[in-house]
Amino acid sequence: MIKAITIIGARPQIIKAAAISRSIRNSFKNELQEIIVHTGQHYDKNMSEVFFSEMEIPSPHYNLNVGSSSHAMQTALMMQKIEDVLIKEKPEIVILYGDTNSTLAGSVTAVKMHIPVIHIEAGLRSFNKSMPEEINRIVCDHNSTMLFSPTITGVNNLKKEGININNKPPFSIDNPGVFHCGDVMFDNAVYYADKAETKKSILKKMNLEKDKFLLATIHRDNNTDDPLRLNSIFSAINKISSENKLNVIIPLHPRTSKILKSNLSNILYNAVKNNSFVSIIPPVSFFDMITLEKNSKTILTDSGGVQKEAYFYKKPCIIMRSETEWVEIVESGAAIVCDADEEKIIRAFKHFKNIELKSLPSIFGDGKSADFICRTIVENFNKFKKR
Ligand code: UD1
Ligand code: UDP
Repeated sequence: MIKAITIIGARPQIIKAAAISRSIRNSFKNELQEIIVHTGQHYDKNMSEVFFSEMEIPSPHYNLNVGSSSHAMQTALMMQKIEDVLIKEKPEIVILYGDTNSTLAGSVTAVKMHIPVIHIEAGLRSFNKSMPEEINRIVCDHNSTMLFSPTITGVNNLKKEGININNKPPFSIDNPGVFHCGDVMFDNAVYYADKAETKKSILKKMNLEKDKFLLATIHRDNNTDDPLRLNSIFSAINKISSENKLNVIIPLHPRTSKILKSNLSNILYNAVKNNSFVSIIPPVSFFDMITLEKNSKTILTDSGGVQKEAYFYKKPCIIMRSETEWVEIVESGAAIVCDADEEKIIRAFKHFKNIELKSLPSIFGDGKSADFICRTIVENFNKFKKR
């Protein structure tokens, strides 16, 4: 039995961890023992707890309750508390997801204790080091013993950074194993799509009809914290909705709702508030979110995960960032990178207005990535180079 500690903290990591926990429960319970550590980076009920119950993720064994603070304070507090848990539990591996401060803290703490790090969603790059996530993912990738990349682009990015993608066991931090595995979020999209569909309550509750509304999410720090960018995004949304008499549903991240009034101009803030086509609502559960995604006409987002889900459900995506890690989606024609540029966002909306995405290349695997990851860990663990 391999003792694994999974470290999660932010909403998308809880969602990604659901796929691996499900795979362990269903197929690897005799080989992998999972202990879940929640750093407490996200703590509101609708940013954390709701996912555990809805997605049947085991309750965290530890909640470190770090909460919100500056990057350094938050990461340092996490590291201190993660170290205590690793000393106590003595895991044989640490499993990490994505690119948040919880990922960074987990990877640096584990690697200094010589505990092999398994990074799920390795190799993704925006090539924009002003993003905190870019720093976090580079550090985590270079601290890892096994790197699971959802896309071929991700594998090639690792190669460009000097990681030999053909390394053979025994794996170690100096000789990491690199695996192209598909996307655990696609596993979730396949697994939960029908379950979520039976609960169409959010459509009824909000009086929404299939393909007759837009869905938008905004939380990236350079969009929320820069008034020019935030005004440009909301101005585009405001115009698109009123000129086309089209509802726009915005489940708003707490980071953005807290800053909206102060960073939007008074005129725009009031215009958005008084626009009956724009509904700003609190973050929704995963089932409600994928129901909204599946039934929307077009999705506008700066989220990584939502870009992918738009693709899974064949919805055009307007990416409100200057670049994306998920370049294949853009290459397929299903998404357009618009930055926080009002004109570009409106132009992309017009471009997609009469387009229905039918068949799209299969980029994100076969819906069984979590099984592949667990099997690969189990098959290779005994071949790890011991220190
Ligand atoms: C974090 C990740 C980002 C990810 C996002 C997913 C980092 C550096 N960033 O960004 O990569 O895309 O999560 O959602 O790790 N807040 C609440 N309640 C909560 C959580 C946060 O009110 O439950 C507010 C606080 O004011 C906090 C702010 O949101 O200061 C930002 O939260 P934080 O976790 O620091 O970063 P995110 O923007 O959520
Ligand atoms: N999500 C959700 N409710 C919401 C907004 C997003 O369940 O109100 C889900 C979404 O379906 C996706 C994940 O959160 O699975 C994406 O996380 P987020 O946008 O917070 O972070 P990112 O992917 O950008 O790191």
